[in-house]
Amino acid sequence: MTLEVDNVSRTYLGIRRNGTQQVAALGPLSLTIPSREFFAVLGPSGCGKSTLLNVIAGFEKPDTGRVTLDGKPIMSPGPDRAVVFQEPGLMPWLTVRENVEYGLKLRGIKAHERRERAMHFLKMVHLSKYAEARPHELSGGMRQRVAIARALALEPRVLLMDEPFSALDAQTRDLLHDELQRIWIETHVTVVFVTHNINEAVYLADRILLMTAPPGRIKRLVRVPFARPRQKTSSDLSIFATMLQKEIKEEVDKVASREFDPDWTPATRSEVLVDPAAEI
Ligand SMILES: Nc1ncnc2c1ncn2[C@@H]1O[C@H](COP(=O)(O)OP(=O)(O)OP(=O)(O)O)[C@@H](O)[C@H]1O
Ligand SMILES: [Mg+2]
Repeated sequence: MTLEVDNVSRTYLGIRRNGTQQVAALGPLSLTIPSREFFAVLGPSGCGKSTLLNVIAGFEKPDTGRVTLDGKPIMSPGPDRAVVFQEPGLMPWLTVRENVEYGLKLRGIKAHERRERAMHFLKMVHLSKYAEARPHELSGGMRQRVAIARALALEPRVLLMDEPFSALDAQTRDLLHDELQRIWIETHVTVVFVTHNINEAVYLADRILLMTAPPGRIKRLVRVPFARPRQKTSSDLSIFATMLQKEIKEEVDKVASREFDPDWTPATRSEVLVDPAAEI
């Protein structure tokens, strides 16, 4: 399985002082993501990360180019791709198990098999005990694990994740990094993981796409050169993260100089933005 993003760009209609006009949000950008890769996407706010993910998911159509999965163009959402967002988006009136089963039901999978599959994936995220609970009885981290189980239950070839852990506290996030890494190894799913958290990307990914200020293009594609298992506290990882931080800051500063008042100037000591001892 190869995911190919070929010359993709997207504009939106934006409201500006002199009326509405087309605003370039993404690209053009081309990428090849091989099967089983853990691919992270980093870039300044508004550079088109979610747009890229939505185009791959089939929620949005690109203005130019196309995305293909094994050579087949993506025209709409499909069973080969599942998405996990920042908010778990569970249905509060359904139990945890019913939430996981929901997509399978829509696909016409029989009750018995649905239940079995839901329980398998709830076990994978260590939540089988809560199968009959309602979402409000769960913590934020547990709810996000349900969302991951729900996505995995569809047995997608590509798992698309848009800042899946950014609403969680640092300790829960740490736990979920390791859970996700284990699940990724167990299921062989290809992951496209959008994040603002550089340390998170360095800990989890095989490769990282650094995007430019909008319209987001490729600033750099970097391979994370560390074997697994990785140590979050390793100085190699934090030195690597600091290097990426500097590159991203250039793009963040470009965005700020466009958007902020004219009296704004960039901070010069970018080193202070990454604390090597910080939890990720
Ligand atoms: N549906 C839409 N209509 C109009 N403009 C949009 C729409 N979706 C995105 N945009 C614009 O496109 C640009 C890219 O948005 P996108 O959400 O992809 O960025 P992002 O990198 O995910 O940002 P963030 O890091 O803040 O989540 C932004 O300027 C945004 O305002
Ligand atoms: Mg986004």
